[in-house]
Amino acid sequence: MSTIFLKRFFKNPFQVASIVPSSKTLIRKVSDKMDHSVPRVIAEYGPGEGCHTREIVRRMHPESKLMLFELDQELSVHLEKQFAHDPRISVHNMDCAKLPEVLAQKQIPHCDYVVSGIPFSILEKGKKREILENTHAVLAPEAHSAFIIYQVTNELHTRGHCDHFEKAESQYCLANLPPMFVTKFYKHGSNGKNGKH
Ligand SMILES: C[S@@+](CC[C@H](N)C(=O)[O-])C[C@H]1O[C@@H](n2cnc3c(N)ncnc32)[C@H](O)[C@@H]1O
Repeated sequence: MSTIFLKRFFKNPFQVASIVPSSKTLIRKVSDKMDHSVPRVIAEYGPGEGCHTREIVRRMHPESKLMLFELDQELSVHLEKQFAHDPRISVHNMDCAKLPEVLAQKQIPHCDYVVSGIPFSILEKGKKREILENTHAVLAPEAHSAFIIYQVTNELHTRGHCDHFEKAESQYCLANLPPMFVTKFYKHGSNGKNGKH
């Protein structure tokens, strides 16, 4: 078990929102949703101690870029040390709602994928809307571009918070503590709007 993660949970339970990092099965299911055969721009919201990040880094193209947004300062320092050797990765100790500003500073027009582990269900309504609108806005206008989330509830999908995305696909991952939904929201869905299943 990751001690730093547990420590940060006790320090800030509503922000960290989990006592154990994601399982290997959940990490694989999330990473499987991205195509790394060509260079990609990827943002990760709430990487925690970096369990999903390590798998994305292992798979991603040598010319891809990965931006990590982690609110917790101690976890951000841990991520900076862990990935200091890899120039493709940048760590941003800030709210993921600031992704558009970071892209503008880096002069990067779009993201191909945004992966999120932040606890949306306990976010204040305005913050939730801001993050979801910004995420949609930064995704490239391409068929592959997607927002990929893992959550205990599937409310972003079932309650229509992500109806501005054209298509969504969900699966349930039992092999995690607690079990989670993995949902991929496509900016542009070739099958039209609301491919819910
Ligand atoms: C449930 S943990 C997930 C950690 C890791 N991704 C995993 O799967 O084990 C949520 C993480 O999101 C971070 N977080 C919460 N709200 C955030 C926000 N608005 N911007 C960036 N990070 C945030 C927390 O500090 C915490 O590290």
